[in-house]
Amino acid sequence: MMRILITGRDGQVGWECQRSLQVLGRLICVGRADCDLAQPDAVRTVIRTVAPDLIVNTAAYTAVDRAESEPDLARAVNAEAPAVMAAEARQLGAALIHLSTDYVFDGHQPTPYYEDDAPSPLSVYGHTKWRGEQAILESGAAALTLRTSWVYADRGHNFVRTILRLARDRDELRIVDDQWGAPTWARSIAEGVAAIVARAGSDRESIAAALYERGGIYHMTAAGRTNWHQFAECIVAQVPDPARKLKAIVPISTAEYPTAARRPANSLLDCERLAQHWHVELPRWDDALVLALAARE
Ligand SMILES: NC(=O)c1ccc[n+]([C@@H]2O[C@H](COP(=O)([O-])OP(=O)(O)OC[C@H]3O[C@@H](n4cnc5c(N)ncnc54)[C@H](OP(=O)(O)O)[C@@H]3O)[C@@H](O)[C@H]2O)c1
Repeated sequence: MMRILITGRDGQVGWECQRSLQVLGRLICVGRADCDLAQPDAVRTVIRTVAPDLIVNTAAYTAVDRAESEPDLARAVNAEAPAVMAAEARQLGAALIHLSTDYVFDGHQPTPYYEDDAPSPLSVYGHTKWRGEQAILESGAAALTLRTSWVYADRGHNFVRTILRLARDRDELRIVDDQWGAPTWARSIAEGVAAIVARAGSDRESIAAALYERGGIYHMTAAGRTNWHQFAECIVAQVPDPARKLKAIVPISTAEYPTAARRPANSLLDCERLAQHWHVELPRWDDALVLALAARE
């Protein structure tokens, strides 16, 4: 059975990948305590010890605002660790599936971004993720990078959980309505990863060959579009909560909600390349949200 090393075991996507990939191979799942991505030697040692056929790197420094004041740590985790993973994968003849972000773009373009559009990140986080993508491309490893956006799950820090919590504490929420994107359920991403792995092959040689042939960068987000304000309205409308205080969600502009890191106004990613090359399409964001809210523990 194929050996699959998953990093970021306790994160939103990593947790769901443990569920979706379990039928495709023997999983070795590592969290921060087993493998600190800020330590290149730790990453090397884990990969050499596990000798995986496939690495799925879901771990990342994802604190977008904090990254502005911790650029070295963000760079180590988001750019240098993926470079080490790619070099080790190449050495082993293994394949690498990596996650990246819509925040590699500046969002000034009015239409959805294609994979070949030029990145121009507005934030330290976006810049470090872009560096990670480039390091993987330059490594010559059999690798595939999936850019996704606005991830949420029933665990970790995310917009859905924050809105449901704040709706109990506040009468009014002020949410930006001029940033557009596709909220993407972590489980949809993990199922997309599983479909790609299943299509790529069931042993080291076949999966590496498939990623040499059809690897590179792909966009993988939910279909459809919304803004943060509409997304918040949709979340609250679907979850009855007798303890809720919230009376209104007021639309505001990004200028009225300053954050340490700047965010793109347009985060929409065109996902047609993934559909054409891998026959993988994630569901619409609002359909997935219904399922995600119903599946909450
Ligand atoms: N969240 C989003 O909205 C979003 C949007 C677009 C793209 N992405 C990308 O999608 C991928 C998955 O994101 P996610 O939402 O699942 O992130 P997440 O929930 O924040 O999980 C990230 C995981 O990485 C781990 N991690 C952070 N620093 C580490 C370190 N130094 N060593 C080892 N592990 C470390 C964290 O460990 P701890 O649990 O110990 O903190 C956490 O388990 C990432 O590549 C991210 O950049 C995310």
